[in-house]
Amino acid sequence: MKILLLGSGGREHTLAWKIAQSQHCKTLYIAPGNAGTAQCGINLNFSDSDIQQIENCIIEKQIDMLVVGPELPLVNGIYDTLKNNPKTKHVSVIGPSQKGAMLEGSKDFAKEFMIKNNIPTAHYKSFTKENIESAFEFIHTLHPPYVLKADGLAAGKGVLICETKEEAHNTIKEMLLSEKFGKASQKVVIEQFLDGIELSVFVLTDGENYLILPSAKDYKRIGENNTGLNTGGMGAVSPVPFANQTFMDKVEQGIIIPTIKGLKKEKITYKGFIFIGLMNVNGDPYVIEYNVRMGDPETESVIPRIENDLLDLFIHVEKQSLNLVDIVINPQATASIMLVSEGYPETYEKGKILSNLDKINDSLLFHAGTKLNENKEVISNGGRVIAITSFGNTLEEALSRSNKNAEILDFENKYYRTDIGKDIL
Ligand code: AMP
Ligand code: GLY
Repeated sequence: MKILLLGSGGREHTLAWKIAQSQHCKTLYIAPGNAGTAQCGINLNFSDSDIQQIENCIIEKQIDMLVVGPELPLVNGIYDTLKNNPKTKHVSVIGPSQKGAMLEGSKDFAKEFMIKNNIPTAHYKSFTKENIESAFEFIHTLHPPYVLKADGLAAGKGVLICETKEEAHNTIKEMLLSEKFGKASQKVVIEQFLDGIELSVFVLTDGENYLILPSAKDYKRIGENNTGLNTGGMGAVSPVPFANQTFMDKVEQGIIIPTIKGLKKEKITYKGFIFIGLMNVNGDPYVIEYNVRMGDPETESVIPRIENDLLDLFIHVEKQSLNLVDIVINPQATASIMLVSEGYPETYEKGKILSNLDKINDSLLFHAGTKLNENKEVISNGGRVIAITSFGNTLEEALSRSNKNAEILDFENKYYRTDIGKDIL
């Protein structure tokens, strides 16, 4: 099979690494990819959200399967575009239709979907500038802190947690009247704060059947002990110790099954990953958000633990026969630590040469923001530079291996968190 994978981060290098090992993989193209994906296939120089270029590439290179890493092409309707074009409609797409992608593209749509399908989530209401007064009133019915969410995609920055009513009022005004997040905050979801521990659960569905992938926990803040600014993710571990059988049974019965049934009931075509962001509140799972893709950096911890041939699973997704496969999960734990550029998530420098890549032989290296320079050296090309994933018989062992290698692998102004996973040991 000829495969085109969209994206350029650590998630995509991990997917590329896994796809390249498949017996079904003849040629793998990655657009735009990074220095890591270039080791697994052929990088193509166009944007992962340029729908026209994606269509052209699929036709020219006779692609059989499109695997979509990030959410934007899905929210922009890549699935429907390809299925409506006679020249590309035969292509398997791993990712939902545009309607399905609204689970991530609109928080209001996702909340409404959850309520309709009896899926546990925080109490909420949605508002626009036309009913901003009701938004202020709604705040008075909730307990602090208050959670305000821009309805649309806001590059992971659209959720604000306000400690006081006054702060919440001001933020609502900024979001609805000053369009703090542009069009994305023309509508705002206000919801009750949930107090608990977060985790990520991943599902691969063919629209009828589903497989539950290993659970993971990611670390979003830049600083040790979850302090400082939010980032794209500083590390992840898998599995999550508290996501035991009892908890996962609640997730499956109360969340996963109703989600798949809800999609079917609404005739929403969905063949791809569902990432369910959960809060464990005293042993009960609540959905914080849906994403219509894999998580990053969770993918770097989750995918290496899956022992199945990934394209084999994707072929079953296309044929709607996931019921015929069992997922095989490596019982070892994984820990991923992200090396970032000093200054990230604000301003940082790029173009630093990565050294000692060849000295690491007991971890997997998944490139995030990297590229090759004229001398074919790997240089940094983003805030998040490279993820180090290690296996261990215990989470502690996996973490200590990743931490050791995070010290060895080097580049100027390298920074990483040394406390990944320690809160759940
Ligand atoms: P989201 O983009 O919806 O995942 O929200 C970003 C982050 O905000 C989540 O990862 C949580 O840490 C936090 N968050 C969102 N909703 C809630 C909530 N209802 N209660 C507590 N924290 C929340
Ligand atoms: N790690 C969270 C995300 O991918 O959105």
